[in-house]
Amino acid sequence: MAGIITIDQEKCTHCGTCAKVCPSCIIEMGENGPECINDLSCMSCGHCVSVCPVGALENSRCPSEEMDPITQPMLDSRTVYEFMRQRRSIRNFTPEYVSEDKMKQLLEITRFAPTAANSQGLYFLVLSDKALIRKITDCVADWMQEEIDNKSPRRRYFMKVLHVYRERGIDIIGRNAKQLVFVLTRRLNVTGVSNSEQALAYAELYAPALGLGTTIMGFIETCARADYAPLRELLQVPPKQVVVGCLLVGYPKYKYHKLVNRQHLKVEFR
Ligand SMILES: Cc1cc2nc3c(=O)[nH]c(=O)nc-3n(C[C@H](O)[C@H](O)[C@H](O)COP(=O)(O)O)c2cc1C
Repeated sequence: MAGIITIDQEKCTHCGTCAKVCPSCIIEMGENGPECINDLSCMSCGHCVSVCPVGALENSRCPSEEMDPITQPMLDSRTVYEFMRQRRSIRNFTPEYVSEDKMKQLLEITRFAPTAANSQGLYFLVLSDKALIRKITDCVADWMQEEIDNKSPRRRYFMKVLHVYRERGIDIIGRNAKQLVFVLTRRLNVTGVSNSEQALAYAELYAPALGLGTTIMGFIETCARADYAPLRELLQVPPKQVVVGCLLVGYPKYKYHKLVNRQHLKVEFR
């Protein structure tokens, strides 16, 4: 039975690059070139196909016909540095809703963020119901109150947050969101939180290019990651799934004019 990897013997130069880049270490160089020694351990990352300099290798798990050639030159470092520094957490928005198409455009880029062992498996839930979002922020406030009552180490911080949310009537929890994106994954996915963080980092960086602004909703995320049952119920999370991330999305109301500074780099070389 043919394995997942096939080699065009006419083209293969036996350079061995495919074996060197394979993260699962399942490609070995045999007499007739590269051979996959364990099909089941292939994580479908596509490195072997993408790196082959002569296009000699095919992997049925990630067919070359589904791969676009790299045509764009790498951007220069100054441009990328300034672009990345321009990203800001956006908490003030115009009244316009982000359409489903635009939201899909934003989330599309998350498919290419790294995930542990190429596990992927993130599901997105976009809420555009202000009343439901208000119920969600109230629910997170209730969870904070329970944490305070249960003498959680975070109680002092949560008391301050609740004072702002309840006494001053400012939505410090959900920033008056009209639209929230939740990230879900299977409960068994132990790297779901890390995968979600990588995915949302991609979305946050891509957003300004689409005219959008975003902010990580940390309070909501923390409550959701604690698997708080009332929040699960509001979001109708299926039993086998968990919420691992939450992002506020909208059209920015204000423009920023300066690049802010940060703590200096702390690094040690050994
Ligand atoms: C893990 C995490 C959680 C965050 N949670 C919130 C949040 O709940 N509400 C909020 O307004 N901003 C939140 N932020 C945004 C930070 O406040 C923001 O990144 C920081 O102040 C720096 O500003 P900048 O993102 O504009 O550079 C969060 C950021 C991260 C990384």
